Amino acid sequence: MKINYIECSPRGERSHSTKIAQAYIEQAKKNIPDLELNHINPWSLNLPEFDGDMLNAKYSVISGTDPSADEVSAWSNVKNIFDEFNNADHYLFSVPMWNFNIPYKLKHYIDIITQPGMSWSYTPEDGYKGLMTDKTATIIYATGDGYSEGTGFESFDMQKPYVNLWLTFLGFKKIERVVVDRTLFDAETAEKNALDVALKLANINTL
Ligand SMILES: Cc1cc2nc3c(=O)[nH]c(=O)nc-3n(C[C@H](O)[C@H](O)[C@H](O)COP(=O)(O)O)c2cc1C
Repeated sequence: MKINYIECSPRGERSHSTKIAQAYIEQAKKNIPDLELNHINPWSLNLPEFDGDMLNAKYSVISGTDPSADEVSAWSNVKNIFDEFNNADHYLFSVPMWNFNIPYKLKHYIDIITQPGMSWSYTPEDGYKGLMTDKTATIIYATGDGYSEGTGFESFDMQKPYVNLWLTFLGFKKIERVVVDRTLFDAETAEKNALDVALKLANINTL
C-alpha cells in the first residue's frame, strides 16, 4: 500500500488540515505496517509555468499533430511530475479553503498533472475517460467559516465540489472527506470533530 500525501496548506504546524492529515498518517501506519508514504508539497515543488511549449504540447496531444522538439522536452517535464503523482494506491490531500476555492498552488499542480494520455483520455466513441480508476482518496478540507447544509452558505463552497469533480473526472473509485470547519471561530471543536472522522477513515478496512 502506497500513499501519496499532498500537503496544500503552506502554514506548516499552524495548519489545521495538515494537523489532521498527520494524525491520519500516524493511524494508517499503525494499521498498515508496510505502508509506503510519499510526501508531495506543491508549495516547495518549484512547479514550472504551464505556458509556452508545455501548453502547446498539450494542444498537440489533443489535436494529434506532431509536437516540436521543444514541446517534446516540455512534455517530458510534465510527465515526470505526473508519474510521481500517479505512483500510489491511496491519496491523502490536506486542502485549505482560500477565497471559497482551493489555494492557487494546488490549482497549478492540478493543471500540470491533469493531462490527456496520462490521467484522462478522450475518444469520440467513448467520450472522456479517467485513467486513474484503481485509486482512492481521502481529502481533509479546512475552512475558516462553515458551509455545511443549513448554514445558508452552501453555494459559496467551490472547494469541496471542485476537488470532488476533479478526482471523479480522473476516475478515482472512492473519495472520502473529512471537514475541519469554522477554524477561525472554534478551532478546538473543529479539530476534535475532524479527528474522530479521520482516525476512523485511516482504518485499513476503509482504505
Ligand atoms: C488567502 C486566504 C483566503 C481564505 N479564504 C477563506 C474563505 O473564502 N472562506 C473561509 O471560510 N475561510 C477562508 N480562509 C480561512 C482558511 O480557510 C482557514 O484559516 C483554514 O483553517 C485554512 O486551512 P489550514 O489551517 O489548513 O491552513 C482563507 C485564508 C486565507 C489565507
